[in-house]
Amino acid sequence: MIGHNNEEHLALIADGEARIDWVRRYSPVLNGMVSNTLADGSLKGKKIAVVVHLEAKTAFLALVLADAGAEVIVAGSNPRTTNQSVVEALRDRGLTVVANADGDMVSWEKELLAAADHEPEYVIDDGAELTMRIGIHRPALYNRLKGVSEETTTGTARLYALHAAGKLPFPALTANDARCKHLFDNRYGTGQTTLQAMLRLTNRQIAGATVTIIGYGYVGRGIAEYAKKMGANVRIVETDPVRAVEAHMDGMSVGTAADKVPGASMIITATGGIRAIGAPEITTVDHDAILANAGHHDLEVDIDALVGMASSTKQMRPQITTYRVGERDIHVLSGGALVNIAGGSGHPVEIMDLTFSVQGIGAHQLINANLAPGVHVLSKELDDSIASAFLKSKGIQLDPGRPEQEDDVMALINKMPAV
Ligand SMILES: NC(=O)c1ccc[n+]([C@@H]2O[C@H](COP(=O)([O-])OP(=O)(O)OC[C@H]3O[C@@H](n4cnc5c(N)ncnc54)[C@H](O)[C@@H]3O)[C@@H](O)[C@H]2O)c1
Repeated sequence: MIGHNNEEHLALIADGEARIDWVRRYSPVLNGMVSNTLADGSLKGKKIAVVVHLEAKTAFLALVLADAGAEVIVAGSNPRTTNQSVVEALRDRGLTVVANADGDMVSWEKELLAAADHEPEYVIDDGAELTMRIGIHRPALYNRLKGVSEETTTGTARLYALHAAGKLPFPALTANDARCKHLFDNRYGTGQTTLQAMLRLTNRQIAGATVTIIGYGYVGRGIAEYAKKMGANVRIVETDPVRAVEAHMDGMSVGTAADKVPGASMIITATGGIRAIGAPEITTVDHDAILANAGHHDLEVDIDALVGMASSTKQMRPQITTYRVGERDIHVLSGGALVNIAGGSGHPVEIMDLTFSVQGIGAHQLINANLAPGVHVLSKELDDSIASAFLKSKGIQLDPGRPEQEDDVMALINKMPAV
């Protein structure tokens, strides 16, 4: 049990408050444009569940929504990424929090169902973790949900699949598909922080290292760019031909897992799927290689397969588990959870200012815009307004353009005879 005596508890609250205050300082868009938009009173009394990796940036989003009058229920989207100080600070502020940093997958399942039992009308979700569970375990509540705003690529894919199956009776906004989210969070945020966490946990050098990245989407590309700039020899494994061409033209060495896993000293998964490193790949991983995951599921590195193949398992350093497979030691970071959050401090604050601005504006849209059931993307105008607020906060001027610089396509069309 964390925080078992009063002094310890107060220290946790103070630590959580300090973490949240640090976030507030570097979140000009959430603090400014978004808070002003939410101040119109439309969130008053609305029950919103926030189920995103529960650390200080998420706590700040929850507080912005609560300040706008919403009744906020907070849970974590992965048991390995919850910060207990932040949990205690939010509880101290009167928010309902169903999360514990010392929990496991079993207690986390219970927490999500407990969050559902607070009967939220709206969900800000990550990986559609709460949405799917409400659908499976609380079907009556599922049919009453008024809207979901989804944080990430994996959850967006789940929402589109629900819609295709005719099982999405409410509007869902894919915050992930807003340009102000995936262009920066998935790419720059994950790129920087995945390597930051890996290097801090392992104390290894990246310049000259051979790094294999599985998946060259926004996340994989971001990690690859940073690794390359830091001097690594970067190899890419892709299943999508266009993305493989992109990686090739970006100067990466592209090939199959069978070719690119052997010889790598660091292997990072970023596919959004499961078993990107499964039993066949494990047989080819080099002795002393490091495996880390940046994708949503803890299952991208198949830990069960590793356990089955290993003669012994050892906790080598904090957050490094070493599996002895034949004559090789294979080291897995943060239990296969998203290493940048479970093994680091999560995304940079500025990145989450953009991402959570999308979520804040998304929640406002779900409440006010009368969207039809189905999956929606934030309008270009709203996406632009978030980017403009970000630029303004940095003192960066946007060129307004002039009418004579525009291609007057209508003038050309008007010269064409009727068809
Ligand atoms: N760690 C974080 O903080 C963070 C941030 C944003 C997104 N994510 C998660 O990262 C994952 C990837 O996100 P994205 O936006 O890059 O998605 P994406 O769909 O743009 O890219 C995933 C890529 O992986 C490839 N792929 C799929 N299975 C593969 C396999 N077995 N082998 C090789 N390549 C494979 C796909 O072809 C695709 O190009 C998702 O789960 C997303 O939710 C994590």
